[in-house]
Amino acid sequence: MGRIIAQFHSMAPQMTPILAPGFSKRGLSMKSLISVIYASRATAEFHEHEIPELLKQARLANAARELTGMLLYIAGSFVQVLEGEAGMVEAVFETIRADKRHGQVALISREPILERAFEGWTMSHKTLDPAEAGELIGEANYFLSPAWIQQLDSYRAKKLLSAASTRWQMEHRSGKYRTLGRSA
Ligand SMILES: Cc1cc2nc3c(=O)[nH]c(=O)nc-3n(C[C@H](O)[C@H](O)[C@H](O)COP(=O)(O)O)c2cc1C
Repeated sequence: MGRIIAQFHSMAPQMTPILAPGFSKRGLSMKSLISVIYASRATAEFHEHEIPELLKQARLANAARELTGMLLYIAGSFVQVLEGEAGMVEAVFETIRADKRHGQVALISREPILERAFEGWTMSHKTLDPAEAGELIGEANYFLSPAWIQQLDSYRAKKLLSAASTRWQMEHRSGKYRTLGRSA
């Protein structure tokens, strides 16, 4: 219990910006920002139970590079958004793309952004089952087809990431956070 509370407190400063619409520009550099979204499929070299360790390392590295974003895991597949200074995002994305823990990496969007959607989040995360992911974009069966990774477009990917982020906040406010905190 003590550990869970400690985790909550250690995350509390990160939660503030995402809970506050319009977010703070505190700490934001004036460099040009971009956002990259991709989808990929986990390979045999990756197992779901490794997500916490992957996130731990990614968050440390992203904090040092002022990168923010969200990583979704949907039944053996990933959807990730990375935001930050253009050169930094490109470099990290190339490293991620070459990572043998996933393959079939499909770039969904790469675009300039005026402000971050995940300000304060060195890498937010949510694991969804395909039905839940479909529900979030209003297309119940969309993620049941194995071909969705190649077909996911920027509109659906953004809708999914945004809805997953909102759901994450609702769950954590309603107390589900304590359960998630144990494995997050
Ligand atoms: C699905 C997935 C998402 C990842 N996300 C990040 C990330 O957000 N930031 C990061 O630095 N590394 C991320 N990584 C890990 C990188 O691919 C790589 O292992 C890490 O940057 C260390 O690289 P290095 O050994 O060349 O330093 C991710 C890996 C996978 C498989």
